[in-house]
Amino acid sequence: MEIIYHGHSSIQIIAGDKSLVIDPFLRGNELAVTKPEEIKTDVILLTHAHADHIMDADLIAKINDAPVVANPELAAYMSWKGVKTKGMNIGGTIDLGFAQAKMIQAFHSSGIVLEEEQRILYGGMPAGYIVKINGVNILHAGDTALFSDMKMIGERHAIDVAFIPIGDHYTMGVEDALQAAEWFKAKVVVPVHYNTFPVIRQEAESFVERLQASGQQGLVLKPGEKMSV
Ligand code: NI
Ligand code: MN
Repeated sequence: MEIIYHGHSSIQIIAGDKSLVIDPFLRGNELAVTKPEEIKTDVILLTHAHADHIMDADLIAKINDAPVVANPELAAYMSWKGVKTKGMNIGGTIDLGFAQAKMIQAFHSSGIVLEEEQRILYGGMPAGYIVKINGVNILHAGDTALFSDMKMIGERHAIDVAFIPIGDHYTMGVEDALQAAEWFKAKVVVPVHYNTFPVIRQEAESFVERLQASGQQGLVLKPGEKMSV
């Protein structure tokens, strides 16, 4: 099984001939090396409604005839774009056949800004996911601030790999992400949501060095790079 980092918060888990993509954002990301048309997947999971998480979801869903999993409000919005959806909510687990995805809390916002209409659509609650696949638990924290129930999540789930934001400004920065990593108790932590825009520039290598100094494994993936799990 392997996980490809597509840049920003976008990851793809590939197990045999099955694939799951979370938060595809490729056309809007200058650092991305993959085009949405190149992605083959069975399902797309969205953490929240912000453009830097959903931009390529409908295109990839249509090309692959793949459903989009999201909170009910975002699922409704995506269905209006003509894609199949599966709405769910925080605390629930969806059985995808080859994987199970539990939607977990994130502390963020989730509106869709309609610039021309000067209107904001409610995008439902922001979330993260724990994907269980082939006995491995992969956590995607979504966009989030640090919150103390991360400790509970880490105690109740044996997390093998955690993707957590470090970019600051819109999400946790490095200091809070280090605490989140400790609370999630992940065997390997991969930083995401940094360097895509100037305002979220971070030194991912030094984040990983600090993780390792406190006894946790970390891994920096460049957009397009993959890890084996
Ligand atoms: Ni966001
Ligand atoms: Mn974001």
